[in-house]
Amino acid sequence: MMNSIPSTLPLSRLVTDMQESATLKMAKMARELKAQGKDVIDLSLGEPDFDTPVHIKEAAKKALDDGYTKYTPVNGLVELREAIVRKLARENDLQYTINQIVVSNGAKQSVYNLCMALLDPGDEVILPAPYWVSYYEIVKMAGGVPVIAYSSIEQDFKSSPDDIEALISDRTKFILYSSPCNPSGSVFSFEELRAMASMLQAYPHVIVVSDEIYEHINFTQNHHSMASMEGMKDRTVIINGMSKGFAMTGWRLGYTASPDWIAEACTKIQGQVTSGASSFGQKAAAVALDSDLTPTHDMVKAFHTRRDLIISLLEQIPLLLVNRPQGAFYIFPDVSAYFGRTSANGYHVSNADDMALYLLAEARVSTVSGGAFGNDKCIRLSYATSDAKLKDAAARIAQALSILN
Ligand SMILES: Cc1ncc(COP(=O)(O)O)c(C=O)c1O
Repeated sequence: MMNSIPSTLPLSRLVTDMQESATLKMAKMARELKAQGKDVIDLSLGEPDFDTPVHIKEAAKKALDDGYTKYTPVNGLVELREAIVRKLARENDLQYTINQIVVSNGAKQSVYNLCMALLDPGDEVILPAPYWVSYYEIVKMAGGVPVIAYSSIEQDFKSSPDDIEALISDRTKFILYSSPCNPSGSVFSFEELRAMASMLQAYPHVIVVSDEIYEHINFTQNHHSMASMEGMKDRTVIINGMSKGFAMTGWRLGYTASPDWIAEACTKIQGQVTSGASSFGQKAAAVALDSDLTPTHDMVKAFHTRRDLIISLLEQIPLLLVNRPQGAFYIFPDVSAYFGRTSANGYHVSNADDMALYLLAEARVSTVSGGAFGNDKCIRLSYATSDAKLKDAAARIAQALSILN
């Protein structure tokens, strides 16, 4: 008998083992309900609700007119990498050369390049939780093993050096975290980073990957990078990008600053996967980085006001434990006091996944379960939306929670 081709060819183990991005999934569900005419407030997506500042858009238009329509070097236009080097010196007091910068199609690709470049099967990556959803899946995709350092709202969601040290093994390749943090909004202080750096002196084989993409959205005014800590620059990779601080999520531009050997390896990976990021986008990003940051500061002021608003609204809900985020535009309340309860219409909530689905069904508010971020007691709400929507969303959440008994 001849071999017949099955109608459904088997998918790879890699993709079948992979979780769909929980944030994108909730946003998709919210969009679908909206398309059915349902009045949904979407607090699930991680992007500023502001438009890209006009001068950046103008720079992209000019770049197109000037003929920037071709491939760029894989690691980015020299002009953009020079602007990034200037930014790091000016804002972070860190000296890099342009060869240590790799520009990618979003910081998400920077994380991907890095994991592919550094991890062998079985290598461990310590993820202080709550962590950004994609870290976990990208580490796994690269054959790595995520090792989770759990933390609670009582610790302001910040793992201590002891928590991390307890998880370091011979197989630990790097520690990967974001500060300001998605999803908690927590920010590591100078002292906390210094303590972590000091603990790491005993483990020279461990690299730190410091995702600073929310750097500018920081209400403490004090951003610190692990790369600035004594003895750490040569073993730290900074991840940053244009998406959050410049409201450029759709432009897909991120970058790393790292030791040369890591930059070379990331460039090699990227050269076989996507090549360089978009040419005219890179030209505009260079202008954005060299420009006055007033539009960014105005946006951050709005986020700060909304942060205070959402805290005050959520704190009025009886059993909710509310954190006080210092940056980014997310809040990560602990909803576990409601677990084990059932609504009047028969919906049982036993964990954070149930809670996110319940709030979407009952309150028509889209949030994301903390389960996807390594914390199954909390849900993430993005407050990158108008005051009116935040007030409406909080009132609907309060109502939905009040009928859980
Ligand atoms: C912590 C963190 N890192 C990286 C990214 C990726 O950003 P982008 O790929 O848009 O540059 C995000 C986006 O949500 C994020 O929250």
